[in-house]
Amino acid sequence: MSNQVLTILRDAVDATCVLTDPDVMTGYVRDWTGRFVGRTAAVVRPANTAQVAAVVQACAQHEVALVPQGGNTGLAGGGVPTRGEILLSLRGLSDILQVDVAAGQATVGAGVPVGVLREAASAAGLGYGVDLASRDSATVGGTVATNAGGLRVLRYGDTRAQLLGVEAVLGDGSVVSHLAGLARDNTGYHLPSLLAGSEGTLGVVTAVRVRLTPATRARAVGLIGLASVPDAVAAASLLRNGLPGLAAAELMLPPGIDLVMRACRLSPPLRGTHAAYLLVEVTGDAPGEDGAGGNGPLDILADAVAGLPGVADASLADDRPGREALWAYRERHTESINTCGTPVKMDVTVTPDALPSFVEAVPAAVRAVAPEASTWLFGHVAEGNVHVNVTGAAGVGERVEDTVFRLVAERGGSISTEHGIGTAKRRWLPLNRSPAEIAAFRRIKQALDPAGILNPNVLLPAL
Ligand code: MLT
Ligand code: ZN
Repeated sequence: MSNQVLTILRDAVDATCVLTDPDVMTGYVRDWTGRFVGRTAAVVRPANTAQVAAVVQACAQHEVALVPQGGNTGLAGGGVPTRGEILLSLRGLSDILQVDVAAGQATVGAGVPVGVLREAASAAGLGYGVDLASRDSATVGGTVATNAGGLRVLRYGDTRAQLLGVEAVLGDGSVVSHLAGLARDNTGYHLPSLLAGSEGTLGVVTAVRVRLTPATRARAVGLIGLASVPDAVAAASLLRNGLPGLAAAELMLPPGIDLVMRACRLSPPLRGTHAAYLLVEVTGDAPGEDGAGGNGPLDILADAVAGLPGVADASLADDRPGREALWAYRERHTESINTCGTPVKMDVTVTPDALPSFVEAVPAAVRAVAPEASTWLFGHVAEGNVHVNVTGAAGVGERVEDTVFRLVAERGGSISTEHGIGTAKRRWLPLNRSPAEIAAFRRIKQALDPAGILNPNVLLPAL
């Protein structure tokens, strides 16, 4: 990196937005898991869209690659400058620009944390459909870039499903902005859909217009112990088909529950140990609120659980502390796994009928290539989304990934559900995408980023 580029970056933004102190940069060049550690000559923190555009334009002119980054909570290495790229942090674009109650929408800067957007929606009597354990750090722009899903995809869909408009800086520094939030708008290509999940390779998202959801009046959470994984998968399907208010269905297994209890000093959630655990959340009216003396979510959930096959024990709660205590066994999986060492993280999807055989096959397949490793499986079972985390696989991480991704592909599944392809999975993209599709992806990339400077080392396989 020449001093000339640093000068150009300092000219493009305020010089104080260009950070070069190695101590300050450390927190930007290493991912949350510790698996991806990069390096950069500068972290640039623009304060507004015009500054982002100026940085991108300067980089395009001088053919300097950059990696956009939000809250640095990504899990696939897509926000880390692994090849010495300039790090473009969007955290400075942190304004809630509008909460439009009449339209049920909000416009926010890309650097707003998901939790802050959720609080702003809640203060207006509304909600935001995407929620995830990293809500306080993960930024809205980052969740657009990865098309994050999180805990309530079952009810509200993924991040792409929330998007009504985006503002983004394309690879030549031009700004595309379409934030009016019209509920119906078929005037050409839907750039929000294209940019969602593009992992900063096509444009740098600077602001988004999202739909908000009606506020939830009452909710109940249940943690259910079941006799087998097939029972848990069947229970999730029965609940999804039978309960219109089902908002979440999460699968956990005994090793993960035990680890969370040890790492977070929690007591057992249920009596005894069970082959599979299902955490479910049901939303609805408070009891009697519909004027007809109807049941609230707790009664609805209790009735539904009583009718499920394979249930050995269950704990239900509808008060906030009780709900949060049950959710902790699921939400704290990620941090607990990190206490066992740097994890190899995969997030894959298979169809419900393939899910039990996949869950059974993975630990043995991992052991065959990494005998010392531990495999942790959990995830968003209603979508068939399994998080496969492997610790103790130092030196054989890629063999582990190759093994698991092939099990997924054999079952017609997806190797990347909600964390993105990043740098971690790009070489396996052909397991899911044909040569013709990848060629089309490259042509889109060339059109929107002609200089090839936007996150050039993620998503598409190296040529
Ligand atoms: C989650 O759902 O908790 C994360 O996406 C999974 C992970 O940490 O692997
Ligand atoms: Zn997840």
